[in-house]
Amino acid sequence: MRTPFISGNWKMNLDRAGARGLAAAVAQHAARGVDVALFPPAVYLDEVVRAVAGSRVQVGGQNCCDEASGAFTGEISTAMLADVGARLVLIGHSERRHVYGESDELIQRKVARALGDGLHAMLCVGETLDERDGGRTEEVVARQLTSGLRGVARASLASLTIAYEPVWAIGTGRTASPAQAGEVHRYTRGVLAGLYDREVAESLRILYGGSVKADNAAELLAVPDIDGALVGGASLRADLFLPIIDAAQRTHSA
Ligand code: PGA
Repeated sequence: MRTPFISGNWKMNLDRAGARGLAAAVAQHAARGVDVALFPPAVYLDEVVRAVAGSRVQVGGQNCCDEASGAFTGEISTAMLADVGARLVLIGHSERRHVYGESDELIQRKVARALGDGLHAMLCVGETLDERDGGRTEEVVARQLTSGLRGVARASLASLTIAYEPVWAIGTGRTASPAQAGEVHRYTRGVLAGLYDREVAESLRILYGGSVKADNAAELLAVPDIDGALVGGASLRADLFLPIIDAAQRTHSA
C-alpha cells in the first residue's frame, strides 16, 4: 500500500512571515495516513524547518547543484540543504527544464548527487503541449525517466518519488483529466518496471502535478496509479492546500 503524498511547491512566492505562518498551519493540520512535504524558496528553508518541527511535515529544496561544493556562484549544494534540515529536493521541475534550460544529463547528475548525499529526490517529468499534440507524451516521459534514473541502484529507489507534471497543465488552470493523468501514470509505472522490476515499480509513488486544486484533487487521487499531488498555486494558501490533504486522507481511508 502506497501512502498518499501531498507536496506544496511554493516556487518564488511568499515572504518570511508568510512562509512561517503557512508552514505552521500545514504542520498543525497534517493528518495521519498522508505524507506531506513543503518546498519553500531556499532562503526560507530554515524558517520553515523550524515551523514544522515535531510534525509529520517534511521540507525540501526546489533545486540543487550537481556539484558537491566550490566555485558555483548562486548554487546550493545538497549538503547545504541537508544541513538546514531539508530532507528532500525537487529535481527536473518543468520550470528548471524549460525556463532555465536544464538538460536530461544535468538532471541525471543532480539525482545522483541528491541520492548520494542522503536526500529524497522528487524527479519531475512531463511533456509540453506540442509534444502531447504530436503524440509524443510516452516517448518524452520514458526518455526523461530513463535518463534521470541512469545509474540509480534499485536500493536507492526507496528515497525517490516521481512527479508527473504535464507542462501544459502547470499554472494554466488546465488540469489533465483523471483519465489522461491515469494513463500516463500507468505508463510511467510500466517504464519503471522495465528499468527495474515490477515489485519496485509498484512500491514507488508517482504524484500528479498541474493545476491541482481542492475541487479536483479527490477525483485525481482516486485514480489507482496516482499516489498524491505536487501542488503549486494552491499550495500558497492554507485554505486551498489543507483541503487537498483532507482529500488524500479520505481517499486513503476509503
Ligand atoms: P500548479 O503548479 O499547481 O500551479 O499548476 C504545479 C507545479 O509546478 O508543481
